[in-house]
Amino acid sequence: MDAEHEKRLAAEAAAQLVEDGTTIGLGTGSTVSLFLPLLAARGLELRCVATSLRTEEEARALGLSVEPFTGVEALDRLDLAIDGADQISREGWVIKGNGGAHTREKVVAAAADRFLVIASSDKRVERLRPPIPLELLPYGLAATLRRLDLVSLRDLPPSPDGNVIADYHGDVDDPARLATALSTVPGVVEHGLFPPSLVTEILVGCGDAVERTRPSE
Ligand code: A5P
Repeated sequence: MDAEHEKRLAAEAAAQLVEDGTTIGLGTGSTVSLFLPLLAARGLELRCVATSLRTEEEARALGLSVEPFTGVEALDRLDLAIDGADQISREGWVIKGNGGAHTREKVVAAAADRFLVIASSDKRVERLRPPIPLELLPYGLAATLRRLDLVSLRDLPPSPDGNVIADYHGDVDDPARLATALSTVPGVVEHGLFPPSLVTEILVGCGDAVERTRPSE
């Protein structure tokens, strides 16, 4: 199956769900890159925030209005956020962060009344598998790593927030327990496990159709 075609189908379906006047969080990745021109082509009046510099630049180049999401003067909630996924489980757990943007992506998803995930069908998995992306504070990094098993640092520049991108390589059999365990280690800024409760709807391109599921219901 052509993943690019499926991503575009999911992106088209998502673009049709956006209404005029929406405040919208724009995710990061190849699926979002397909979504942005489809969104821009609708010619809606939108206020956008971006989860990465790449998305911000792509959105601005298409004429979308992107505003800062940093500081107390910025929007404190969004109507909608739309983003891709690395893995999607049957239960609606989503793994994100292959591009290292998962912290900003999770902040934006949590700020939105509705969070839509768009993906090709190859992102659906029977069982979640490692790696789980991590963002770690540089301060005390060695001590944080000592408390985390099976973690490797990615050879990447710092995140836009000055942090270190890493990956957890242990098993993901119990994502809720793992999410809690990772979150409770001081120095872990964020991990790439997005719970079903955060996800309003998943739109998966599947052949020539789009399958829609609502994990949090
Ligand atoms: C960015 O850090 C990631 O969370 C992406 O959203 C995720 O990897 C999906 O990317 P693609 O749309 O390129 O598959």
